[in-house]
Amino acid sequence: MSPTSPAARPLPGSFRSAAVIGGTHGLGRALALAARDRGLRTVVYGRSAAPLAEPGPDPDGLLPRALNLCDPQSVRTASVELPSPCYVLWVAGAFLKKALVETTEDEVEQLTRLLFSGPVLFLRRLLAEAEGPVHLITIASSSSWKRRERESLYCGLKAAQATFVRNLVPELLAAHPENRVTLVNPGGLAVPDFHTGLALDFGAMMDPGEVAGIVWNIAADQRRAFTEVQILRSREPGSEGTPEVSYGARAPQPPEEPATAAGEPAALPIQHH
Ligand SMILES: NC(=O)c1ccc[n+]([C@@H]2O[C@H](COP(=O)([O-])OP(=O)(O)OC[C@H]3O[C@@H](n4cnc5c(N)ncnc54)[C@H](OP(=O)(O)O)[C@@H]3O)[C@@H](O)[C@H]2O)c1
Repeated sequence: MSPTSPAARPLPGSFRSAAVIGGTHGLGRALALAARDRGLRTVVYGRSAAPLAEPGPDPDGLLPRALNLCDPQSVRTASVELPSPCYVLWVAGAFLKKALVETTEDEVEQLTRLLFSGPVLFLRRLLAEAEGPVHLITIASSSSWKRRERESLYCGLKAAQATFVRNLVPELLAAHPENRVTLVNPGGLAVPDFHTGLALDFGAMMDPGEVAGIVWNIAADQRRAFTEVQILRSREPGSEGTPEVSYGARAPQPPEEPATAAGEPAALPIQHH
């Protein structure tokens, strides 16, 4: 188990800044505020990151930069200037629960841009500009390996994100021996905006601020080039929603429901995040 205290712990080395792609709301915002608390100059990217009248931090001490990952022109032109060495956090996302045949061509295009091709193209620019070591912290999802229903596009794109960053490690190491990648697969978070329209028990889901503290503690302790971690919510009665940390990748769950001894599908509920 890793530490679960959200207390701000000093970060190793000479890291000066953090760029949070999707740092305006939800888990990204919590990660950005925790980066600020650890003394990092913290840039938050998002569509709602309104430019300030005066250059400098917003009232929360964060530096907003407008970026729309679904707009190729915005991905090409948003500023990637950051003091090195820096943390880069890939967090932006949105959820889609729909059978593929009900999904419009535009929804496929937009979600693919938001969850995969937009961040990949933006990361390409950020990495090309970076002058010193980069520690990439990627928020994928337990949906990258769990059995889900009517979420094939979302799950497929989250698995693509996870596989992409694992395979980025050798070239990042070749570029700089101190480059690092942390791949985080969280389970369900108490972020109602992400689960719009779904009737969920947010009291049994993980607190984004607590998860953000865990992620930063894992990043601070990381010595190897790559770490993959699962942060899943406890379902134990009395401690529902408590984050449980385990290391390493998980094998994908088979798509069919587990069979009972009699060979009939077990009447198990589908796991929701
Ligand atoms: N919530 C969960 O249960 C859960 C579980 C596992 C993994 N995750 C993953 O965690 C990440 C964060 O989710 P969250 O729950 O914190 O969601 P959230 O509160 O809805 O935040 C999403 C973030 O993504 C940004 N974003 C959305 N569309 C964008 C676009 N077109 N261009 C640039 N930025 C965009 C948003 O900023 P703007 O609105 O300012 O654009 C916001 O900062 C996602 O990748 C999600 O897949 C979530």
